[in-house]
Amino acid sequence: MCGIAAYIGQKEAAPIILDFIKKLEYRGYDSCGIATLNGSLTYKKGTGKIDDVDQKINFLNLKGNIGIGHTRWATHGEPSDKNAHPHFSCEGNIAIVHNGIIENSEELKKILIKGGHEFRSETDTEVVVHLIEDLINEGNTMEEAFAKTLKLIQGAFAIVAMNKNEPNRLYVVKQSSPLVLGVGDNEIFVASDVLPIQLHTNKVVYLQDGDFAVVTNNDYKIKNLSEIKVNREITILSENLEEISKGDFEHFMLKEIYEQPESIKRAFKGRIDKDNAKFGGLNLNIDDIKKIKRVVLTGCGTSWHACLIGGYYIEEISKIAAQVEYASEFRYKNPVLGKDDLLIVLSQSGETADSIAAIQEAKEKGVKTIGLVNVVGSPIARMVDGGIYLHAGHEIGVASTKTFTSHLTALYLLSIYLGRINGNLSKEKAKEMLNDLENLPDKIKETFNSVEEIKKIANKYFKSKNALYLGRHYNFPVALEGALKLKEISYIHAEGYPAAEMKHGPIALIDENMPVIVIAPEDRLYSKVMSNIQEVKSRKGKVIVVTTDESKNGFDEIIKIPKVSEFLMPIISVVPVQLLAYYIAKERNCDIDKPRNLAKSVTVE
Ligand code: G6P
Repeated sequence: MCGIAAYIGQKEAAPIILDFIKKLEYRGYDSCGIATLNGSLTYKKGTGKIDDVDQKINFLNLKGNIGIGHTRWATHGEPSDKNAHPHFSCEGNIAIVHNGIIENSEELKKILIKGGHEFRSETDTEVVVHLIEDLINEGNTMEEAFAKTLKLIQGAFAIVAMNKNEPNRLYVVKQSSPLVLGVGDNEIFVASDVLPIQLHTNKVVYLQDGDFAVVTNNDYKIKNLSEIKVNREITILSENLEEISKGDFEHFMLKEIYEQPESIKRAFKGRIDKDNAKFGGLNLNIDDIKKIKRVVLTGCGTSWHACLIGGYYIEEISKIAAQVEYASEFRYKNPVLGKDDLLIVLSQSGETADSIAAIQEAKEKGVKTIGLVNVVGSPIARMVDGGIYLHAGHEIGVASTKTFTSHLTALYLLSIYLGRINGNLSKEKAKEMLNDLENLPDKIKETFNSVEEIKKIANKYFKSKNALYLGRHYNFPVALEGALKLKEISYIHAEGYPAAEMKHGPIALIDENMPVIVIAPEDRLYSKVMSNIQEVKSRKGKVIVVTTDESKNGFDEIIKIPKVSEFLMPIISVVPVQLLAYYIAKERNCDIDKPRNLAKSVTVE
């Protein structure tokens, strides 16, 4: 949520910061701004997506070798010019950008207003810059004022500040929200993640919670909130920079859907060992695994849907009890956790605030934690006891696609691994399952053969106001995911249900205007799902079936998918529902990669 960026060095700051905030736009895109220092403090900000704002106000007119920038996802205060960052002190000497939430901003604001400070925005952020100003007016240096301010604010914050009277310094802090420094030659970059930094330098410093730093063009001094100096290692990023471009695709989302045969391959590459899976960073020894009595899987959004399927895998393949929890609910139910439990956290970004809180809850209760994360070096990847990187590559489209199938691939492998070690899965079965997985990328390619059919269906139904998605067993979470994709990018109201639950309520909604998308491969519940379909047809609902069955007709529309094992079917059946959402959103002229109100990384509760 919100992307922040800063630069200090020999080059013009504005072009670098503009490029950075564009690359961070997946974090929020309702307004943006940049400030630079060149003798005086100048800034520009506006409401809307960065390209549109830039066209209107031309950020590159800002001059100076030091600057800060921001792309916003509104929490406190509507998206507007006045609420866009940077925010400034009353006298206009200090500027800050912030990602996160200042939870005690209301109390602080009252005190500051009493003290004569004038607020120009409705944001929680603005209290920070007035606090710094207040403390400087009391005789503190900028560094002292910044450090003291950090003790007064509560919540989640990554902040960069600069002061006109100290034109060679940036002040940064990280508490819960992510922040990375990039160390170049006589220049230092700051950003919410490494994505924009990696094009300038491969040397990065991941700041940790409580770190605050004074940054010059050739040095950075990091202290913790108790003002004790701390050393943070420089991480050298791998040389294989992945190009961030849409290639020939119109949207990142479509590109990412089509990448799935390759991204899945990367999730299992090097992790198959004849009749078992193998992992490098799981950090679970055989005795630990044998003791596991229950696995708790948690995540948010699409990652939570992947958890649901993971829960089925772990019970059915490893024969270990599995429980799935929304990360946002987990800690509030004061969960009963013990040393024989294992917490598995799924996250694309590795920085979702609720998922981080779930890990903290488990750690406090002495439970081992495993992360299945895409972004290397992200906060979740660094805080768990062990993990599996997905290697799906950058996912830029806000609606997650390839991460879902990579998560399922990793969960499938993990279930095989746990099942083999605890003796609940035979060598032969494991071998067969691993072989099935190796053939999966080609099967995914076959699903793309249905794309013309999917486009026709999208063209027929894109004006619908509602849609229902049904599935059973492994394909029930796919129904949830299909409905979520449609909601996220086309703004059509959609619900996912286990097919048999439909008659307990949703059936009341069915009439000739209701498209019902049914995920119905020929599995052990196929005949039961067919009965559920008849219940829809009898009420004149329009049935769109995603099926392996070549012979079926009598439905309004059929999307054919190839046959694979029951376990792997959700990795196949989700592809047409991703494509259907995509083409419906395209028909509706929606901004597919940047859907309204959403952000890819949700770093606030
Ligand atoms: C946001 C994104 C979703 C994502 C969810 C969880 O809501 O828009 O696409 O599934 O966060 O994110 P994570 O990075 O933890 O998987």
